[in-house]
Amino acid sequence: MAANVSPRNAPRPLDVEAVRRDFPILATTVHGRPLTYLDSAASSQRARPVLEAVEHYERHSHANVHRGVHALSQAATAAFEGARERVRRFINAVSVKEVIFVRGTTEGINLVAQSYARPRLRPGDEILITALEHHANIVPWQMVCEQTGAHLRVAPINRRGEVPFDEFQRQLSPRTRLAAFAHISNALGTVLPVKRMIEAARAQGAVVLIDGAQAVPHARVDVRALGADFYTFSGHKMYAPTGIGVLYGREELLAAMPPWQGGGDMILTVSFEKTTYNELPAKFEAGTPNISGAVGLAAAMDYLEGLGIEAVAAHEQHLLELATVELGRMPQIELVGTAAHKAAVLSFTMKGVHAHDLGTILDADGVAVRTGHHCAMPVMTFFGLPATARASFACYNTEEDVARLVRALERAREVFG
Ligand code: ALA
Repeated sequence: MAANVSPRNAPRPLDVEAVRRDFPILATTVHGRPLTYLDSAASSQRARPVLEAVEHYERHSHANVHRGVHALSQAATAAFEGARERVRRFINAVSVKEVIFVRGTTEGINLVAQSYARPRLRPGDEILITALEHHANIVPWQMVCEQTGAHLRVAPINRRGEVPFDEFQRQLSPRTRLAAFAHISNALGTVLPVKRMIEAARAQGAVVLIDGAQAVPHARVDVRALGADFYTFSGHKMYAPTGIGVLYGREELLAAMPPWQGGGDMILTVSFEKTTYNELPAKFEAGTPNISGAVGLAAAMDYLEGLGIEAVAAHEQHLLELATVELGRMPQIELVGTAAHKAAVLSFTMKGVHAHDLGTILDADGVAVRTGHHCAMPVMTFFGLPATARASFACYNTEEDVARLVRALERAREVFG
């Protein structure tokens, strides 16, 4: 039994006031108002243990990794490789060779597009994505289609913002060489039935990449249980620093892929006649890596598991349901994305008001939401909208945050008449 599961199988409730004390930035005031931070889907805030781990590393252990016999280089290497093992345990990968540190989700997807797909795909082959994807899971595949002559197919969504499984399945065929889709939609919060989708795609012989950027902070991810070939996510959406993320890949696949970027650390020997490449995972980590970022990511994983991911998910689900009911009562608000299974994200519009104007009014009340197309223009096009406002929830949000959002929306309605 997991430590955070009580005998009755319910997650231990989150002590949200204690959690808030772990995030110094939440004490900030904005325009003289307390900060109501509802933009964690864009970037979450950093927990104190993460800030402390990064500072401790920078003050006491920093040197370059894998390059020195001196004590500090050894300490930095131990911290960096220790972080890799922490990630392995967090996602239940078989081996640290399957954990590649990248800048974030976007880099993870581009790596697979260029190193896995580009050398393998031929005209007539297909890549399948869904209509829910954000740009990072569309554009790299469009680029690889241009490079190889492969064709991009898109599984449709319905008006609730779900990917109907039978529609997805209909798009699959033996020509599908690769399927790539989000675990959770950033724009709408839809949780996709990824396990079923992975099984269906793999049954057709496709390799599957999951964009886990929005999932990892909100759900326990076990890459082996999912059966994903590749799974990628960013640190900064899960209380870790920016500029660090992970690409998980099954060892067999990564081992067969050529390096993507060349440089130091990814080589064994270099001469002008021939260079030989390092083993996994170094083969995919050219140049000096983001060492303190990896240390911060490991600390964020400790922090999240310390809270209990199930407890965090249950807390966020409660806030999402509360906000859905409260905003659903406001006649001028339209919720966008009403999937049966959602996590942590509430997108909406206010009649007659552009989302950016709405965002500005909310900001004046200290309420931070994201407004715009959420790097998912095709989703906006599907709903016939230029933009939405999006509130997203994290472990540190409270019912009072939802109440402040509602009050700020009421004020916006008065302002815009
Ligand atoms: N993908 C990030 C978001 O959803 C930037 O806001």
